[in-house]
Amino acid sequence: MGISLAFNFSGVPFLGFAPFFGTNPQDTFLTLGKKYGNVFSLYMGPKLTIILNDYEAIKAAFSGQADIFGARADSFVFRYISTGEDGKLHGIGMTEGEVWKTNRRFMLQTFRDLGMGKSKLQDKILEEAEHMTSWFAKHHGQPFDPHPKVLMSVSNVICTLCFGKRFEPEDPEFVRLLENNQEFSKLLAQSGPLQAYPSLRFFPGSVKAAWNAIVQINRQMIDTMTAKIQEHRNTYDSNETRDYIDKFLHHQAAEAASPNGIQPPFYDEGLKRNLSAFFGAGTETTAVTLYWGLLFMLHNPHVQTKIHQELDNTVGAGKPITIDDRPKLPYLEAVCRETQRLANVTPLGVLRANTEETTLLGYRIPKRCFVIPNFKSVNVDPKLWTDPLTFNPNRFLDGQGKVFEPAHFMPFSIGKRVCVGEALARMEIFLFFANIMQSFLIRPPRDSDIPSTDEYTTGISCRPAPFKIEAVPR
Ligand code: HEM
Repeated sequence: MGISLAFNFSGVPFLGFAPFFGTNPQDTFLTLGKKYGNVFSLYMGPKLTIILNDYEAIKAAFSGQADIFGARADSFVFRYISTGEDGKLHGIGMTEGEVWKTNRRFMLQTFRDLGMGKSKLQDKILEEAEHMTSWFAKHHGQPFDPHPKVLMSVSNVICTLCFGKRFEPEDPEFVRLLENNQEFSKLLAQSGPLQAYPSLRFFPGSVKAAWNAIVQINRQMIDTMTAKIQEHRNTYDSNETRDYIDKFLHHQAAEAASPNGIQPPFYDEGLKRNLSAFFGAGTETTAVTLYWGLLFMLHNPHVQTKIHQELDNTVGAGKPITIDDRPKLPYLEAVCRETQRLANVTPLGVLRANTEETTLLGYRIPKRCFVIPNFKSVNVDPKLWTDPLTFNPNRFLDGQGKVFEPAHFMPFSIGKRVCVGEALARMEIFLFFANIMQSFLIRPPRDSDIPSTDEYTTGISCRPAPFKIEAVPR
């Protein structure tokens, strides 16, 4: 069986279906899925693109054929940002085979050694949570937009892990890194035509302008990471491990002393790209999840009351909430899960590809198609969730009131490329959210409408339209 084409035409000349994606392609795909089913295809420029539009399709591809669908799509912009001075791909994001596997294993081991899931890292997250809640308190119950501070606090956790240092909010280097990251996410979202037809970057117009901005920001990011690595080399001590860079340099030194010398996964070019990827992926996604969490609290005061009751009946006030408190706070944890489900922070994951021709649920898929999982189709599927558009944390609690995750809950994706930062993100979401809830009642500004949950835009992540809250100390 061939693949059903989403339209009986391939879109407009050159650009294919890309111009019809809209600002939230996940919603466009949901609509198309109603007519064309759970596996359908369309053209992004010349590139045949397969949309996996329900749980069965995503599971069959990413789990059932994990090796075949474990590759990244060779899209022009992602290839550009992952290519080193030597013209080769580097780092975890776009590579495949041994370089990717080694990078992934090394990252997971290093983050674990640096305290992921343990008290060492928890202390850092709690320090950032303390900065965040103090800043909330400074508004004395007056309205403010929490996003900038949430972004900085989350970002400082990944900065501590990668660079061994946190930044003060006004530090120009930090401000520039965060601005670049936000801008980059926006530009990547607009880069559909470029991915399809790279030569468009030579023609005057918005595509060329976007491309020039991508090149400039990428250069600045790589320069910053190069400077960070150099700073570490200048102060290097083989007996000390301050962060991910030090771990990488230790490994490089060991390989340099071995007969085969430094191997490709441990080239500086890979280190620079991994630092950029961890900073980018580790900042925006987690911060936006917390931002959605606060928005859901504005809409669901009854949920917030239950969180406060649970907190008051178990851990109380006077000490920060830690990971050890987690078993006592199943409702709060269920709220974190429900936030991730309904927020759809990464609705389309990161572009994948299939390494060889295959058959998926009866459809023939040619080799090396672009593959897009629509995770939102899973998160709002009424066959999987009762009343899916309602914010209801109880769906993540079993009969005994314990946290329960169905297999179709997959905010970090599934399969071989599943998010490598999952453990860190889960820890951060719980600790930041729990400590905000312990300190404040979050409510909408007086005399204004509750900001909508239906207004959002999707770049790398899906973010609600800016909104303000009042944080009333408890
Ligand atoms: C709420 C927070 C987060 C969400 C929702 C999220 C989601 C995702 C998703 C959906 C993917 C694509 C997986 C696939 O292709 O199937 C991904 C990949 C990735 N994520 Fe995350 N992520 C989060 C936090 C983080 C953090 C904190 C880091 C920090 C290091 C991180 C680093 C990465 C990297 C490096 C990849 C690429 C992995 C690979 O290609 O092997 N993410 N993430």
